[in-house]
Amino acid sequence: MPADEPFALVIFGASGDLTKRKLVPALWSLFQGRVLPEPFVAIGVARSAMSHDDFRHRMREAVAEFARVQPPAPHVWDRFASCLYYCPGVTDDPALYERLGALLRQLETDKGTGGNRLFYCATPPSLYPEIVTRLGASRIQRETKGWVRIIIEKPFGRDRASAAELNRVVSGVFAEDQVYRIDHYLGKETVQNILVFRFANGIFEPLWNRNHVNHVQITVAESLGVEARGAYYEEAGALRDMIQNHILQLLCLVAMEPPVSFDADPVRDEKSKVLRAIRPIPPEEVDHVVVRGQYGPGFLDGQRVPGYRSEKGVAPDSATETFAALRLSVDNFRWAGVPFYLRTGKRMPKRASEIAIQFWGTPHLLFRRHDPAERIEPNILVLRIQPDEGIALTFGAKLPGPELNIRPVTMDFRYGASFGGEPPEAYERLLLDAIHGDATLYARADWVDLAWEVLTPVLEAWGAGPAPKFPNYEAGTWGPAEADAFIEDDGRRWRPL
Ligand code: BG6
Repeated sequence: MPADEPFALVIFGASGDLTKRKLVPALWSLFQGRVLPEPFVAIGVARSAMSHDDFRHRMREAVAEFARVQPPAPHVWDRFASCLYYCPGVTDDPALYERLGALLRQLETDKGTGGNRLFYCATPPSLYPEIVTRLGASRIQRETKGWVRIIIEKPFGRDRASAAELNRVVSGVFAEDQVYRIDHYLGKETVQNILVFRFANGIFEPLWNRNHVNHVQITVAESLGVEARGAYYEEAGALRDMIQNHILQLLCLVAMEPPVSFDADPVRDEKSKVLRAIRPIPPEEVDHVVVRGQYGPGFLDGQRVPGYRSEKGVAPDSATETFAALRLSVDNFRWAGVPFYLRTGKRMPKRASEIAIQFWGTPHLLFRRHDPAERIEPNILVLRIQPDEGIALTFGAKLPGPELNIRPVTMDFRYGASFGGEPPEAYERLLLDAIHGDATLYARADWVDLAWEVLTPVLEAWGAGPAPKFPNYEAGTWGPAEADAFIEDDGRRWRPL
């Protein structure tokens, strides 16, 4: 663990959902688990007029509702709450930064937080450039002798050009090693475990290549719809919301070469190399490589649920995709010829995210007396990201009895059974890493740019083409029929989840 240094966290967007659902609950869990460096202060910034105590009260409710760990005793909460402050203001008002600077200086003296300042952009993304520029223009950024870092929430741009513009603004104020672009998937225990699984075990890595792997499927299925986020989602869609960030990160972790060390730049260098090796999608091929869908009304858990176009904040003729599936090729020595199939969707029958590595079958069928009508299933290694976190390896075994019948069976590791307890939330780990100055689990500027580059032909083709025939799948199903046809054309099937 790096040395614990005191710090001040400033959250822009303190009255928003992220602060109440994730950030303050994560901070609380870290505090409660005695891993948060002290002394610390967290200052919420938002438009609403509120006193420090009002803010503390709100955060008490948020923690009661959303935190993984509840206050064991009121005095522990009181000690935490005494570190929470609030600074009202609008982000384009220079006076806000004056007040914020004064509050920071005062707290640094009173509480001894040492001048280390961590800013968190948790506002609507359209405000990020404003906040960064104003921070740069104020003394806040320059006056302190401590470290200054900034965490930027996703989405990081909405296409390559806007991401580049945001990177330009950010790099005008902060050096790259001060910038932490968050992707909460990287903080998930199961996602962190991908590299441990690959590089801390002798038996898997020798198989991890085109000689043994037939193809890879990455699925992130959600049963939720767009909830109250219709307006945001209309501008995003599944490709921008999930694939450009979370799913491409998963792909990189599966496909990357071992880094020379487990430090921020070596790890991120290898991830960027994977994106560079992805074969560009020719514009005329987009329809063969990508399938999109949008859910109509349907049933989930026996309940009728509305179609996407009837959700709040969504246009009645919306062309936004709530499902996307695509096939990518990683053109390098390790992965030549191994397709990576990615899919994600809202309102799928259940929440389930996994990475399935399907291996080649045996070169020769020894068991001729085995009923040939029953195919011997290929070996599949499944990394279950969530829920039911674990890793399973499927192989063929002889069905007990006088005949030679082979059935697939599974060796199954479950986090819950092996380690017990609830794993920490992704935001806990990520916040702590930013406080400690470790950017390994954060996205670097070049990665974000490359991830947009991979998807640009798709975004452009969709933007220019005719409106899709939506809705094309019922809520509570596994997406449009075209998504099945698309992988079946390659002689493969989506794994049932
Ligand atoms: C967010 C997306 O980044 O990730 C949401 O904006 C999505 O649309 C969420 O629901 C999924 O995260 P998790 O941790 O619930 O899998």
